[in-house]
Amino acid sequence: MHSDIKKILFSEEEIIERSKQLGAQITEDYKKEGRIPLVVALLRGSVPFLAELIKYVDLDIEYDFMDVSSYEGTESIGDIRIIKDLDTSIKGVDILLVEDIVDTGRTIQTVGRTLMHKGANSVKIVTLLDKPSRREVEVVPDYIGFQVENEFVVGFGMDFNQKYRCLPYVGVLKDECYQ
Ligand code: IMP
Ligand code: MG
Repeated sequence: MHSDIKKILFSEEEIIERSKQLGAQITEDYKKEGRIPLVVALLRGSVPFLAELIKYVDLDIEYDFMDVSSYEGTESIGDIRIIKDLDTSIKGVDILLVEDIVDTGRTIQTVGRTLMHKGANSVKIVTLLDKPSRREVEVVPDYIGFQVENEFVVGFGMDFNQKYRCLPYVGVLKDECYQ
């Protein structure tokens, strides 16, 4: 365990096991509807989860990336700036958005609405973690790895000042690391 980590919430094994379950569920749901989603991952945090999850999605999926950030000072209206847009046309496409963690819900809600506005046929959300106690807008992810308490987490893609993304587990930092 990294010396800055206070406790591990979800081990690598637990994340892999849960990713298998989610992948199977996603496969079943889309097969039932006869659809194949375009998997859209939000940079950068969702990359490790994307890589794990897609191994277990038994559909001929393609994936693409988006990078967004909040406009400074406009956080309260959930406005986002697109830093990197999709390279794939999404008219009539079913999209499966991949997130590392849904917190206030503003990012994923705004991205979802933007994609629908651009002509997507449907948008579903899969997130490794969900922090429902922090929600500020009404958004319920379709597929959730694990729910977490109101606690800042790092690892498996999630960062604190860009650090700790490469840890193979999700954990909580020691208090002194936030200073
Ligand atoms: P939202 O718009 O508030 O839902 O923000 C979601 C984004 O905030 C996630 O994609 C993460 O990048 C970041 N985030 C929220 N909570 C955490 C956390 O506990 N650790 C690391 N990043 C977080
Ligand atoms: Mg993020």
